[in-house]
Amino acid sequence: MVTGSAGMIGSKVAEHLLRRGDQVAGVDDLCPSYDVRLKQWRLEQLQAIPGFAFHRVDVSEWMPLETLFQSQRASGDGQFSAVINLAARAGVRDSLVDPWAFFRSNVTGTLNLLELCRRYDVGKFVLASTSSLYGAHNPQPFREDANTDVLLSPYSASKKAAEALCSTYHHLYGIDVTVPRYFTVYGPAGRPDMAPFRFVKWIADGEPLTLYGDGTQQRDFTFVEDIARGTLAALKPVGYEVVNLGTERTTRLLDLIHLIETQVERKATISHQPRHPADMMVTWADTSKAKALLGWEATTPIEEGIRLTADWYRQNHHWAREIAV
Ligand SMILES: NC(=O)c1ccc[n+]([C@@H]2O[C@H](COP(=O)([O-])OP(=O)(O)OC[C@H]3O[C@@H](n4cnc5c(N)ncnc54)[C@H](O)[C@@H]3O)[C@@H](O)[C@H]2O)c1
Repeated sequence: MVTGSAGMIGSKVAEHLLRRGDQVAGVDDLCPSYDVRLKQWRLEQLQAIPGFAFHRVDVSEWMPLETLFQSQRASGDGQFSAVINLAARAGVRDSLVDPWAFFRSNVTGTLNLLELCRRYDVGKFVLASTSSLYGAHNPQPFREDANTDVLLSPYSASKKAAEALCSTYHHLYGIDVTVPRYFTVYGPAGRPDMAPFRFVKWIADGEPLTLYGDGTQQRDFTFVEDIARGTLAALKPVGYEVVNLGTERTTRLLDLIHLIETQVERKATISHQPRHPADMMVTWADTSKAKALLGWEATTPIEEGIRLTADWYRQNHHWAREIAV
C-alpha cells in the first residue's frame, strides 16, 4: 500500500514499485491542498502501468481504511506486505493556516495505519518524515541524532508526532519501521507550493518571481527519482530507524534561480518579500547513515534535475500554466 499515491513523491514511489513488478494499492483522498489536476495527471500515468489499483480514501477516516485492509485479507493475494505512508498535508507555511488539517492527515492518518498494520499483521511500515524537524539550531549537516525538540511550524510538529507513534508501535508490537527524512524534494510534476515548481513557472511565463528573504537560504534539493529509489530501499527490515535522504549538497535560492534562468533562457524579475519565520535558513543532510544502512545515495546533479523539471513544464505548458502557485 502506498498512501499519498497521487502526490509528487507517492506517485514516483508507486511507479518504481510497479516497474519492478509489484502490485500496488494506491490510496489518496485527492484533497485540494493544491490544484487537483496535477494529482489526476500523476494518477493517469500510474493507471497506464499494470498492477496498480487506486482507492480514493482519506487516511484519517477509520472505516473506509479498515475496509481496504479487510478486502485485501479476503483477496487471493494475501495481506499487504508493507505500508508506505506518504499521505500528508505538506508545506511549512500552509500549516499555519489550517493546522488541524495537518494533524488529521499526518497524525490521525499515521495512527490509523499503524493500528491497522497491528490488527491485520502487516509487518513493515515506512513513514515519510522531513528535514524541517532539524529546526534552526542544530549543527550542519544534520544528523539523525540531532535535537528535534524545537520546531518552527505545526507541519514539523505533526511529523514529529507521527515519528513518535511509529516508535511506540515498534516498541509495543514489533512493527518494523523505517522513517526516511526527506530533504526538499523536487522534480517533474512537482508541488506547486514549492520553490522549484514556482520559479520554473514564473520565469518561463515571464511573471514576477516572489522571493521570501534575500535568497541566501540554502536547501539540500533532492531529485524525486532518487527519493523514490531511497524509499524502496527503506523497505528493508531495520527494526526502527530514522534515515536522512538528501544529497549532502546545498544550493542557495539565488543560485537555483540562475540555474532555471539558464534552462528556460529567460531572466527572472524578482519581487522581494520578507523571510517567513517558519522557514529554515539551511537544510543540509548528512547521509552517511543512508549509505551504510540502505546502500543508498542520491546520484542526480541539480543541473540535471532542474533540466528535467523545466522540460516537464514546457511539455505540459498547455494545462500546467493554469496551476495556481
Ligand atoms: N516534497 C518534499 O520536499 C518533502 C520533504 C519532506 C517530507 N515530505 C513528505 O513526503 C510525503 C509526500 O510529500 P509530497 O511532496 O509528495 O506531497 P504531496 O502533497 O504532493 O503528496 C501528498 C499526497 O497525500 C494526499 N493526502 C493528504 N492528506 C490525505 C489524507 N488524509 N488521506 C489520503 N491522502 C491524503 C494528498 O492528496 C497528496 O496527493 C509527505 O508525507 C510529506 O510530508 C515531502
